[in-house]
Amino acid sequence: MFDLTGKTALVTGAGQGVGFGIAATLLEAGAKVFVNDLVPERAVAAAEALGSNATALPFSVDDREAVVSAIAGIGPVDILVNNAGIPPTMRPVKFRDMDPAEWAAYIDVNLYGVINCVSATIDEMCERGWGRVITISSGAGTQGLNIGVSMYGAGKGGAISFMRHLAVETARSGVTANTLALGLMERDAPNVTEESRTVTASMAKQVPVGRLGTGRDIGYTCVFLASDEAEWITGQTIAVNGGSVTT
Ligand SMILES: NC(=O)c1ccc[n+]([C@@H]2O[C@H](COP(=O)([O-])OP(=O)(O)OC[C@H]3O[C@@H](n4cnc5c(N)ncnc54)[C@H](O)[C@@H]3O)[C@@H](O)[C@H]2O)c1
Repeated sequence: MFDLTGKTALVTGAGQGVGFGIAATLLEAGAKVFVNDLVPERAVAAAEALGSNATALPFSVDDREAVVSAIAGIGPVDILVNNAGIPPTMRPVKFRDMDPAEWAAYIDVNLYGVINCVSATIDEMCERGWGRVITISSGAGTQGLNIGVSMYGAGKGGAISFMRHLAVETARSGVTANTLALGLMERDAPNVTEESRTVTASMAKQVPVGRLGTGRDIGYTCVFLASDEAEWITGQTIAVNGGSVTT
């Protein structure tokens, strides 16, 4: 059950954090995994750590030409996990206090990044009659939060809507398209500031199951959605958040 042997997966933003956990879990389920990241050294180090069935594939998801050319070079992708979503410039700031010059980064990675990667993989999925698209979104894309993430939420919410339509348009082609709305995750990557770690750790108390999520928690959900057994699940936004109530 949930065997991904023979499948090729591409996980974006997998050089660290949640994406790394997703890549590791897909590999354990038998898939061959392309490890994308904006930072080439991060993609290479992650692929090396993951072993011989993992290959680094650095590019920025918001650069359409780079996406198309990188994906054309690896052949058909069976499982696309759109995980890249936190721009390097991300900081908590409320909409009224945000400089308009900061807006685009959130939309570029979270909406155009997803669209670019889908557009480069979806035709072959449909032609071959099998494909899985999984987009990593956030509670910030499904509900209003007063923590300075309005533009991030706009990108995340846009991707949720895009995925719903994609799911319906491709439903008769053996392709499923689902979104995971994550709750608060562990942030253990080396480039995460001590302040950010402390804030996140203190918020763990609010999570009903009493801990933050890990990349593997998300990876297990991806393995299920990527499996043959999940072929009747499409067009859904699934909260994976340790029991937090969402509206
Ligand atoms: N961390 C959380 O609490 C949390 C909560 C909800 C949702 N999410 C979502 O989970 C996903 C992963 O988050 P994370 O916490 O692991 O982030 P992270 O910042 O730790 O890692 C993300 C990786 O994506 C890469 N990346 C950034 N922009 C990119 C681009 N344009 N092209 C390719 N790669 C790019 C970064 O270089 C980085 O290595 C994101 O979509 C994020 O929005 C995270």
